[in-house]
This record gives sequence, C-alpha cells and structure tokens, in this order.
Amino acid sequence: MAKKEKTIRSKHIRPGEKVKVLITRDRIHKRILEIAKQIRRDFPEESLLLVGVLKGAVFFLSDLARGIPGEVSLDFIAVSSYGKDTKTSGQVRLTKDLDASIEGRTVIVVEDILDTGMTLQYLLRIFQQRKPKRLRVAVLLDKPERRIAAVQADYVGFSIPNEFVVGFGLDYAERYRNLQGVGVLSLKPQDKSGKSAD
Ligand code: IMP
Ligand code: MG
Repeated sequence: MAKKEKTIRSKHIRPGEKVKVLITRDRIHKRILEIAKQIRRDFPEESLLLVGVLKGAVFFLSDLARGIPGEVSLDFIAVSSYGKDTKTSGQVRLTKDLDASIEGRTVIVVEDILDTGMTLQYLLRIFQQRKPKRLRVAVLLDKPERRIAAVQADYVGFSIPNEFVVGFGLDYAERYRNLQGVGVLSLKPQDKSGKSAD
C-alpha cells in the first residue's frame, strides 16, 4: 500500500508549487548526530576541518559541527553550476575559494546533496591537489540514480529517490532552504522557471 503523503501547508509555499514531506526534521537531526559520532570515531585524535559547500550545506554543517566532539574548524567554498531548471547542467565554476590552506589537514567536505556528482568531482580534484592529510565527503542526501561522475560519499545521511527536493538548506530558485525538513517539490508545468545557482 502506498504510504500516506503529507503536504506542507503554509502561506509561504507559492501557488502552483507543492512540497510533500520526505524526511522530517526529527529524523534528520537524529541521523546527523549519528554521522557526527561516526566521524569522531573514525578520527579520534584529529583536528578536523569541515568545508561547507555554500549555500545548501550550511544547515547540515552547523548541526554536524556541533555534534562532533573535540577540535573542529570550519571553512567554506562556493560553486555555481550552470543550470536553469531543476536539473544541474554539469558545468561547475568556483565562485568563492577557501580562506586557508588545507595542506596536511584532515578535511571533510560537507555537501547538501550528491546528485550527478559533477560538483563533488570538481571540488575533490581541486582539494586533492592541495595535499590534505585526509579527504572525506559527507552529504546529507544522496540520489544514486542520477550519478554521472564516479563519486562516492564516505558519510551519507539519507539515500533518496530521483526527485527534486527542497528544505534543510536545499533550494528552488533560492527559496525553501529554511523548511525544517526535506520535501519533494512539484510544480505545475507553467511554473518551471529558474532554479538558481547553489
Ligand atoms: P551535482 O553536481 O549534480 O551532484 O549536484 C549538486 C548540486 O545540485 C547540489 O549541491 C544542489 O545544490 C543541486 N541539487 C541537486 N539535486 C537537487 C535537489 O533535488 N534539490 C535542490 N538542489 C539540488
Ligand atoms: Mg549545493
């Protein structure tokens, strides 16, 4: 039997757009804490550098960082993928670089979602050249069906089906990042316009 779907009802959901709950806030928080503990278990003695990919990863990163005991520092990078719709085009461009060197550091790249893998493939290539001691990837969401680039995350919050999702940092045209959980966005055909850069 199909699971009952809960649609988010709010005046902030635009007409013609619908968001169906996929993962609740509580499940997300629980899972992030598990990942945080796992990361510390994997690197018990190390000072960790979490690198967040702006802007989508900010919510995940802030919960993750607070869940990891011990020494943690943060840096951010921003990329933009040229895509107009709810699909990424695969071309990635760096719009903000890290503030500091990662040479010799244990780096965890923190991303909101691993989709085609083009963004992470591009970033990992850049970071690898900068000689970190260790380089790992943590993503809140993984859409394995959409993968083009051979990229795998070391830590995955949730594996999800091939649907366009918003909330907990993920946007549609810069909106819906602040929804507390993750939901599937559906649009009436005439409203499919401009998904912005990350
Ligand atoms: P990739 O390069 O195709 O792996 O895509 C990575 C970026 O595309 C993510 O960091 C998101 O910004 C964006 N993206 C991919 N899928 C979704 C989605 O379902 N909702 C919102 N943004 C998405
Ligand atoms: Mg992103």
